[in-house]
Amino acid sequence: MTWLDFFCHPLWVVSTALLAAVVRLQRRPRWDPRTCDVRLTGKTAIVTGANTGIGKFIALDFARRGARVILACRSETRGTAALHEIRAKTGNLDVHLRLVDLSCMDSVREFAGRILKEEKALHILVNNAGVSGLPKEITKDGFEASFATNHLGPFLLTNLLLDLMKSSSPSRIVTVSSVNHKKGEVDFSHFHGENLVYCMDQVYNHTKLHNIICTNELARRIKETGITANSVHPGVVMTEVLRHYPRWIRWSFNIIGFFFFKSPEEGAVSPIYCAVAEELEGVTGKYFHSDCSLVLPAPLARDAALAVKDFEVCERLTSKL
Ligand SMILES: NC(=O)c1ccc[n+]([C@@H]2O[C@H](COP(=O)([O-])OP(=O)(O)OC[C@H]3O[C@@H](n4cnc5c(N)ncnc54)[C@H](OP(=O)(O)O)[C@@H]3O)[C@@H](O)[C@H]2O)c1
Ligand SMILES: *[C@@H]1O[C@H](CO)[C@@H](O)[C@H](O)[C@H]1NC(C)=O
Repeated sequence: MTWLDFFCHPLWVVSTALLAAVVRLQRRPRWDPRTCDVRLTGKTAIVTGANTGIGKFIALDFARRGARVILACRSETRGTAALHEIRAKTGNLDVHLRLVDLSCMDSVREFAGRILKEEKALHILVNNAGVSGLPKEITKDGFEASFATNHLGPFLLTNLLLDLMKSSSPSRIVTVSSVNHKKGEVDFSHFHGENLVYCMDQVYNHTKLHNIICTNELARRIKETGITANSVHPGVVMTEVLRHYPRWIRWSFNIIGFFFFKSPEEGAVSPIYCAVAEELEGVTGKYFHSDCSLVLPAPLARDAALAVKDFEVCERLTSKL
């Protein structure tokens, strides 16, 4: 029997399909956006990285619920394509594209400045954009590129939009982190690209840990303002997230993923849950799993003293002084 015969054998095919079905049933979230009738008419939402992957389905859901949706994307071409798609699919014409490169602090300041000038309110901010597997690179601000994109840019953006969100409260900040944060560590020299190993997603894992730490500290700082801030793991999702990886890794991911991983639409469920579910009103400083359950993040993400320090370091790094 050749390998091909083996893999095409009906028994093999049937058992794989059965296993995949069980996996799918198992990972069904305990909340379904399709049966949640929350409307967002009169609300404004920003979704970063909304042109593809998870972000596009988050934006699509908000548009369906009648929100004014701002797609915060870095590419005009890719952003415009998503804009047209979302408008066509939902019939909501109050969807707009604004350009921002989260790895560049000046671009974040410019974007936030325009939002503050043009928008009367902001009720939902989803920090979704993120990269994995970027090669080592230092940005013109002097930051390691993955840390700038995944953490410092979104951190600055959130802080710059805070007053607008306060005046629009109740409002919600949702940060798309990852279960990978559990393997992350905190070392402030990482922000400048020191002491990093570019292997096995290590850099990504660190950035996703900072996401949760700073979201929790933000939640503590803004407790009485009517803004909530939570982090969420979307699951393992078939998106373009591996675009910087070698082809063989992407192919294996896609083949296995076809059976076992989530679609981008399924990956959007837990972030949407955090942004709209009524039962989460007032819930803040928490971390949610991809099945929408409230879970504890890693111990480092629960260290309050570390959070104070991390937040201060990030504030200093992103301040203009
Ligand atoms: N996929 C997974 O299995 C998984 C698991 C856990 C967590 N996550 C998290 O989920 C979030 C969404 O990822 P995804 O899987 O949907 O990935 P994706 O398909 O690669 O989408 C990432 C989005 O982020 C945008 N982006 C990247 N760098 C940017 C920058 N410098 N400025 C502005 N936007 C930028 C991308 O824009 P362009 O298209 O223009 O590049 C794209 O819209 C990320 O935070 C990721 O860490 C994903
Ligand atoms: C990053 O996290 C992933 C998922 O938890 C893990 O497989 C990988 O080994 C981690 N990388 C490092 C260097 O710890």
